[in-house]
Amino acid sequence: MGLGECLIGSAELRNLTKVVESGALFRYYGVGNAPIKHSFAAQAERLAERMFGVRYALGTSSGTAALEVALGALGVGPGDEVILPVWSWVSCFTAIVRVGAQPVLAEVDESLNLDPKEIARRVTPRTKGVLVVHYQGVPGDLAPIMKAARRHGLWVLEDNAESIGSTYRGRATGAVADISILSFQQRKVVTTGEGGMVLTSSARLYERAARMADLGQYRAEHAKRTPAKEPMFVGSNFRMSELTAAVACAQLPRVPGMVRKVRALRDALLREMGHLPGITWRHIPDPAGDIGFESYLFMPTAAQARAVRERAAARGVTLTPHTGTYAQTAREYVRNRSTHAAGRGPFMHFKAWPAPGYRPEDFPRTHDLAERLIAIPIGVLFKKADVVAIGRVLREEILRELG
Ligand SMILES: Cc1ncc(COP(=O)(O)O)c(C=O)c1O
Repeated sequence: MGLGECLIGSAELRNLTKVVESGALFRYYGVGNAPIKHSFAAQAERLAERMFGVRYALGTSSGTAALEVALGALGVGPGDEVILPVWSWVSCFTAIVRVGAQPVLAEVDESLNLDPKEIARRVTPRTKGVLVVHYQGVPGDLAPIMKAARRHGLWVLEDNAESIGSTYRGRATGAVADISILSFQQRKVVTTGEGGMVLTSSARLYERAARMADLGQYRAEHAKRTPAKEPMFVGSNFRMSELTAAVACAQLPRVPGMVRKVRALRDALLREMGHLPGITWRHIPDPAGDIGFESYLFMPTAAQARAVRERAAARGVTLTPHTGTYAQTAREYVRNRSTHAAGRGPFMHFKAWPAPGYRPEDFPRTHDLAERLIAIPIGVLFKKADVVAIGRVLREEILRELG
């Protein structure tokens, strides 16, 4: 289960009841277009701004929507390229295609996040930015990523969907780069069912994000925070509803407590497993900042990883990631380069398909890591005894496999 999902309860119900009793489910006006008395969406945004240390947060209808809003705010469009890790969620790729740009895939390193060295390798005159995905609670190595991006005049968008509550060198992830997104989908640290946010400290990106999410409009509520300077443009409707925001307001304040608890459980698990020669732990660029709800290790070979996973499963221990992330090269929309507009899209200039850069063999390191990985999920309702038992099973099975 997701972290936030386990704790849905009376606080969510209280807030939802308030919304329903008010009759005002839309964030921008109350019943019959009267001014809304209390907006949970605005409250959730202020909460997020304080929590992340950014100047502006904007609620959206999902994390996928937030990605499109952020890309729209950055002005990404046809002819542009965006670098992203090949090991990433569906919408990291599809959001780029949806705004008409071309995703350029890059290898991950042993942190399972974008290898900073890939930026110099993948950049072209058409590259506009880099999408960093903080995979399952562990931040990407933002310092070298920001440095490489700036050297090439690129913006950086942090996809913090899976890492709400993590930090990088003392700063909340989602607050380090130019703009970032959150997801409040079911399996995330914070869940509202569906929902998301865009975070930035740039007044210009905030205004453009608000316009992208609200049919090009920039309402008084936002203009009060920073005055309009940008022209209207074609946007879409990615607005957060009051029902979603009511749940977000109950969930967001729980993040620090959840992270503390999960880290303590992770430490107990690692203590139980002890030193295991032959395995490699996932590289954590800033060990003080990861959340720890999923620990990863790599076995020397894919066959050994499979064997450990199978035997642990037979003993009741599941060792698969709590996310549908896998290499983009294996996804059907990459294999057939389809977009909603059949026969058109950002890949049509390639004569042969799959073109170099979109084939599994172009990402040997990522595929090798993916085959050898073992994920150890930790739930927020786990007890110390649970993780000690998991650690013991894993230790025994790894030692058995490695002799
Ligand atoms: C890394 C990442 N980015 C974006 C998303 C999209 O979020 P949502 O499901 O809220 O649209 C998700 C989760 O589903 C994700 O894991």
